[in-house]
Amino acid sequence: MLLLQLTLLFVLVLGAGSSDDIYIYHRAGDEVIMSCNSVNSSETSCSSIKWFYFRDISTTDTIVSDGQINEDSPQADKLSLGRRCSLTITNISSEDAGAYRCYYGNTYDTNVFLNILTLSANQSTDPVGGVTLTCSLWVYTGIYCVEDSLRWLDEERDELKQDDDEVYYSRQKKCVSDLIITHQMNHSRRYTCQFVINNEVKISADYTLVSTAPNKIIIIIIIVASVGLLTILVIVGLTVFIKSRRKTGAAEDAPKRARVPDGEESTVSYRS
Ligand SMILES: *[C@@H]1O[C@H](CO)[C@@H](O)[C@H](O)[C@H]1NC(C)=O
Ligand SMILES: *[C@@H]1O[C@H](CO)[C@@H](O)[C@H](O)[C@H]1NC(C)=O
Repeated sequence: MLLLQLTLLFVLVLGAGSSDDIYIYHRAGDEVIMSCNSVNSSETSCSSIKWFYFRDISTTDTIVSDGQINEDSPQADKLSLGRRCSLTITNISSEDAGAYRCYYGNTYDTNVFLNILTLSANQSTDPVGGVTLTCSLWVYTGIYCVEDSLRWLDEERDELKQDDDEVYYSRQKKCVSDLIITHQMNHSRRYTCQFVINNEVKISADYTLVSTAPNKIIIIIIIVASVGLLTILVIVGLTVFIKSRRKTGAAEDAPKRARVPDGEESTVSYRS
């Protein structure tokens, strides 16, 4: 019975893929404001507004009921009502992806599908090593990503190809794409992940990868600098040593030698 009610609620409230559906794209951390079009501009009270959140087909949350944030909702801390009963979600994360819909004056507004792009870096599990950047678009469960809708660009805004010698990426699975950076020539480099539909960029995110392994040129500079510094130190050291030997002269040397009852030292004395 409960399941039937939920299903009915879902069908009634979310509707079934209406052409009016609105799709919005954001990055994790953003603040999102969704307006309720059924509320007219002269309305001053939000005491009868309801907001619903659909994470997937089986999860419906009433996040705002009779103008009050539902404190039992996992999102409660981040929710607030704004102008004309709009819903504000601050600091969104992947867990906020899904469909939102308001109910006001006996009418359900259009569904707003909140899609969230995240980009993170991890040490690669690939045998070659390197770093893996993971780009994910979090969507209402049940929506599938078009193949190759996630793409990668380098710092010069050129699209990265799968056979690039510096990087490669796996075929996109669901709404996730991994970029594996095996050889990083530059000390730091920016990579961009874009979500593209019909050649239109809906959202993108950047990641600047700071290389942990110093590159070859830096290693060569360090070696050359070290050898140079060592040579200077040796020359200075030798000069100082020779000068001090000349200044102090034989007068100081003689007692020193006398104190050492060593055969080899005596030989040196004889020779001098
Ligand atoms: C935003 O949310 C993330 C977790 O989703 C948290 O780690 C971070 O501290 C939050 N930032 C702010 C400013 O509240
Ligand atoms: C390093 O990055 C700069 C731009 O930041 C680029 O002009 C240069 O070609 C890159 N070098 C290599 C070896 O990738």
